[in-house]
Amino acid sequence: MTDQIRWGILSTANIGRKAVIPAIQASRNGVVAAVASRSAEKAETFARDLNIPQAYPTYEALIAAPDIDAIYNPLPNADHAAWSLRCAEAGKPALCEKPLARDGDEAQSMVDAFASREVLFAEAFMYRFHPQTQRVRELLQDGRVGDPLVLNATFTFQIRRENDIRLDLSLAGGALMDVGCYCVNVMRLLAGEEPTAMRAAAQVGERSGVDEVLTGLLTFPSGVEGHFDCSLRAHRTHTYEIRGTQGRILVESGFVMPADTETTIRVWHGDAYEAMRIPPANSYQLMVEDFADALLQSRPPRFAPQDAVDNMRVLDALRAAAGMVPF
Ligand SMILES: NC(=O)c1ccc[n+]([C@@H]2O[C@H](COP(=O)([O-])OP(=O)(O)OC[C@H]3O[C@@H](n4cnc5c(N)ncnc54)[C@H](OP(=O)(O)O)[C@@H]3O)[C@@H](O)[C@H]2O)c1
Repeated sequence: MTDQIRWGILSTANIGRKAVIPAIQASRNGVVAAVASRSAEKAETFARDLNIPQAYPTYEALIAAPDIDAIYNPLPNADHAAWSLRCAEAGKPALCEKPLARDGDEAQSMVDAFASREVLFAEAFMYRFHPQTQRVRELLQDGRVGDPLVLNATFTFQIRRENDIRLDLSLAGGALMDVGCYCVNVMRLLAGEEPTAMRAAAQVGERSGVDEVLTGLLTFPSGVEGHFDCSLRAHRTHTYEIRGTQGRILVESGFVMPADTETTIRVWHGDAYEAMRIPPANSYQLMVEDFADALLQSRPPRFAPQDAVDNMRVLDALRAAAGMVPF
C-alpha cells in the first residue's frame, strides 16, 4: 500500500453511484479500483460510466482480488452481514452501510469477526463526519442549552419506487432501518449514553409488510427524553433539536448535508438567538478519508464499530416495542 488505498465497491448500488464513489474519487487518500455486481454486464457498464478501471462479475472475485485494499459494502440491509463476514474471513477491511445488520446479535458477530482478525471495520454513518455535527456536540458540552432535557429528531422522505429495497421485508427494509436509524444514532451521540427504555408505534404497509411510518421514544439514564419519527411516505425532512434548561439548538439540515452548501445551526440561549453558519463539507469524503487514514496508519476508525452494535440494539428494542417481529 502506498499513501492511497484501493477501494473495491460491492455492487452497483445507487448510493455508491451518487455519493460514495465520487467521494472516494475526490479523496486525498483513496482511489476506486474496482466494482463487482451479480451481473457481469451491469458491472462493466457501471465501471465505464464511473471511470472505474476494473469490473468483476461476482462479489466473491472482488473480495478475493489481491490488489484491493478495502471494500465498501452498500448491499441491501439483509446482506450486509453475509458479505461483510466474507470480507473479514479474507482479511479485507470493510466500510459497511448503515444500519450495520438485521439486528444487534448479527451486528455483534460482524464486529467480532473483524476484531478477532484485527481487520479494520466501520459503519458508514456519514453525517457524523460533517463539521456541523461536531459543532453541535461542542455547543452542548459548552453548556449552551444548560442541562439538556429533550431531544427530538425527524427523518422522513417519499419513496419513489414501489420495488425499492426499503419496501422489502425480506431485505430488512422499513422506515426505522432506513432513516429512523439516523434519529436513534444522533440522539445516542448527543446524549452520550445508551437509552434504558424504548417505546414505539409503527404503521406497517399492507402491501410491503414493513414499517412505513414509525414514532419512538427513548429514555436516557440522565433523565433526557428523546422522541423521533421516521417515514418512507412523508415530505422530506431531516432535522434534530435539543432543548435544555437554558436554551435550544435546532439543526434543520441534520443528516444529508449537500457538499456545496453551507448549513445553519440555530441557537437560542436565554433571550439571545444566533444563526451559526457552517461552511460546506462533503461528509462522505470525510468518512472515506478517515477510513483510509485508519488503514494507512493502523489506527481505529473515528467512530468505533461497537457503536453500530449499540445502535442496532436500540432498533431491536424499538421494533419489538412497536409489535414487529425480528427479521
Ligand atoms: N449513507 C447513506 O447516505 C445512504 C444512503 C442511501 C442508502 N444507504 C444504504 O446503502 C445500502 C444500499 O442502498 P441503495 O439505495 O443504494 O440500494 P440500491 O440502489 O437498491 O442498491 C443495492 C445493490 O445491492 C445489490 N443487490 C444484491 N442483492 C440484491 C437484492 N436481492 N435486491 C436488490 N439489490 C441487490 C444490487 O447490485 P448488483 O445488482 O450490482 O449486484 C443493487 O444495486 C442500504 O443499506 C442503505 O441503507 C446509505
